[in-house]
Amino acid sequence: MISKLFLALIFLRAGLSSGQGFGFTFDGFRPVDLHLDGIAQITSNGLLRLTNESMQRTSHAFYPRPVSFKNSMEGSVFSFSTTFVFAIISNQPEVGGHGIAFVAAPQMGLPGTLPSQYLGLFNATSNGNTTSHVFAIELDTIESTEFQDINNNHVGIDINSLASTHAAPAGYYPDGGAGKFENLTLISGRPMQVWVDYDGTEKRINVTLAPFSVARPSTPLLSQSLDLSPIVKETMFVGFSSSTGSLLTSHYILGWSFQMNGQLEELALSKLPNLPRIGKKPTPKLLTVGVPIICLFSVSVLISGLVYYIRLKRKCAEVLEDWELRYGPHRFKYKDLYIATREFRDEELLGVGGFGRVYRGVLRTSNIEIAVKRISHDSRQGMREFVAEIVSIGRLRHRNLVTLLGYCRRKGELLLVYDYMPNGSLDKYLFNQPKVTLNWTQRFRVIKGVASGLLYLHEGWDQVVIHRDIKASNILLDAELNGRLADFGLARLYDRGTDPQSTQVVGTLGYLAPEHTRTGKATKATDVFSFGAFLLEMATGRRPIEQRGTEDVILVDWVFSCWSGGGGILEARDPNLGGDLVAEEVELVLKLGLVCSHSEPRARPTMRQALQYLEGDLPIQDLSSSLSIPSPGVRFAHQEAFDDFVMSYPSSMDQAFAVSSSVADSLLSGGR
Ligand SMILES: *[C@@H]1O[C@H](CO)[C@@H](O)[C@H](O)[C@H]1NC(C)=O
Ligand SMILES: *[C@@H]1O[C@H](CO)[C@@H](O)[C@H](O)[C@H]1NC(C)=O
Ligand SMILES: *[C@@H]1O[C@H](CO)[C@@H](O)[C@H](O)[C@H]1NC(C)=O
Ligand SMILES: *[C@@H]1O[C@H](CO)[C@@H](O)[C@H](O)[C@H]1NC(C)=O
Ligand SMILES: *[C@@H]1O[C@H](CO)[C@@H](O)[C@H](O)[C@H]1NC(C)=O
Repeated sequence: MISKLFLALIFLRAGLSSGQGFGFTFDGFRPVDLHLDGIAQITSNGLLRLTNESMQRTSHAFYPRPVSFKNSMEGSVFSFSTTFVFAIISNQPEVGGHGIAFVAAPQMGLPGTLPSQYLGLFNATSNGNTTSHVFAIELDTIESTEFQDINNNHVGIDINSLASTHAAPAGYYPDGGAGKFENLTLISGRPMQVWVDYDGTEKRINVTLAPFSVARPSTPLLSQSLDLSPIVKETMFVGFSSSTGSLLTSHYILGWSFQMNGQLEELALSKLPNLPRIGKKPTPKLLTVGVPIICLFSVSVLISGLVYYIRLKRKCAEVLEDWELRYGPHRFKYKDLYIATREFRDEELLGVGGFGRVYRGVLRTSNIEIAVKRISHDSRQGMREFVAEIVSIGRLRHRNLVTLLGYCRRKGELLLVYDYMPNGSLDKYLFNQPKVTLNWTQRFRVIKGVASGLLYLHEGWDQVVIHRDIKASNILLDAELNGRLADFGLARLYDRGTDPQSTQVVGTLGYLAPEHTRTGKATKATDVFSFGAFLLEMATGRRPIEQRGTEDVILVDWVFSCWSGGGGILEARDPNLGGDLVAEEVELVLKLGLVCSHSEPRARPTMRQALQYLEGDLPIQDLSSSLSIPSPGVRFAHQEAFDDFVMSYPSSMDQAFAVSSSVADSLLSGGR
């Protein structure tokens, strides 16, 4: 009842004021009653959304009451003005359609009109038909050649037809721009404002376009003299028409003001509803471009992470077989060694030996300093036995042995972990003279230590351990400068009492006993021979074989010649020792060295005897006599053996060694 009354009042007001200052202003459409059809709707925040993303549809939004445009059928149209803010948002950048038209029509709905290029204004019969009485201002975003459109972005004046009587590309003449034209893109998604002014006396229509928030330019885009009187009826309906084609496009009206015969009320731009976030367009972009990129990125991050992980895994991969499980405490994780040695950096390299490279390291968990020896091995064959030996050797504990802490296996590589010896190997103290040197007391202590360590290997355990490679560079000095035998773990073991197995000859020329070279068998006596060479090194500061000029000088021969010559054996002593020595001890060491270097294994003392000489438990006279009065029979048999040796090893070094040794041998056995 009340609403009916209200409607009646409105009608009355519209009817009365028509022609005399009737007008309305909508700063947004929230509480506004409009006549909508097609797919037009008012959004929750007050936007007039003419089209949504539906294809081939029309839509209309009309002010719901008729507006008087003239006083009589034959009268002339009053002046009127209207302005509105619109936005066209397309799914795709810069293409979409078809557009928006401000329209004045005899009926509200424009029934039977077509979408697409007809803009919801006409159909095939009404288009171009003077019976239509339709006047429109079109904002056209598609170029329809059938209607002689000038382009796909224009503003046109339509009289009963989509073929505009006047049209101009979208744009404006900015104030103060000296008549310069600025293009605008209708479909940019940005809001723009349109002003339509009809001067009833001048019979002129002006259409002005400007970007949102740019004040109305004083120069209109279109200014045409045009008499609307024959077209427009006495009462008309005003509103908007829009249509979509095959491109998904949203057409919005943000605000609208209309004034008949009076001063137009401008829109309060700040009050207009907001367009949906321009993100409407970027969102699908994010989906179509962003998401795949993000996916690709994540996948590549994942893959590279996986590759890194696999490479790390492979880097740290170690071989672990069932039988190794019982060596648990002796097995090291490769990863731990890798970290301890700082990825086996060159700065951590302690040295390169015959068996492999040795690195210093610090175990992360216990902070213990270690030395890691990397030995490459080709086959898995014999590995099980070898590791068993290594591990059992790891149980050997003696203060003159470098303790083997454990091992680690990788494909093609065996890593042995030892106690770290801060003072390095002995040879640098002997042969880098006079830079660093050991005095006699220190040397004698090292000698006794090594003898004691070697005796432990030979006799101190339930298995005989042959070192095979005794030499100064295999003897390390601990913090107190005690000599410690290293690398014994790499010598083969054999059970006490059984025949030593013939194996590949390991060892160093000059330290190798002649019978070892010949038979390939390592025995306790071959170790004693090497020990002898070591004793001579310690006392003379010379290497077992030295080159002087073109000649190879064999240390044994030279010491022997000193002894047999007039000056006495002490002449052979290391000059770097100076006067600070105990003559008896030096003499003892030199003589013991000669005896141990005896070419006949049976003439060499055992390690137990050697240690007893060194400790003074056996008198030095016995030693001298065993040197000067060798047991008969030994000499001869041996001489022949040496001849064989010379014939079978004719290389110059071996030859020199063999011949000279045989000289020494004859001297030893036959001489004084
Ligand atoms: C568009 O609007 C119409 C009418 O309101 C509705 O039926 C249709 O589902 C809408 N389409 C889309 C894509 O929003
Ligand atoms: C064409 O449009 C006019 C005006 O809207 C309408 O009256 C007429 O019925 C339409 N014709 C057809 C064939 O739809
Ligand atoms: C114009 O429209 C009228 C009625 O709407 C119709 O009878 C007439 O055929 C149309 N003329 C043309 C040329 O289509
Ligand atoms: C405006 O648009 C027209 C047609 O699209 C083009 O020829 C002209 O160069 C443009 N002018 C400016 C200033 O962008
Ligand atoms: C239309 O534009 C012309 C040229 O700028 C101007 O002289 C005229 O006053 C305008 N008419 C209206 C009704 O705005």
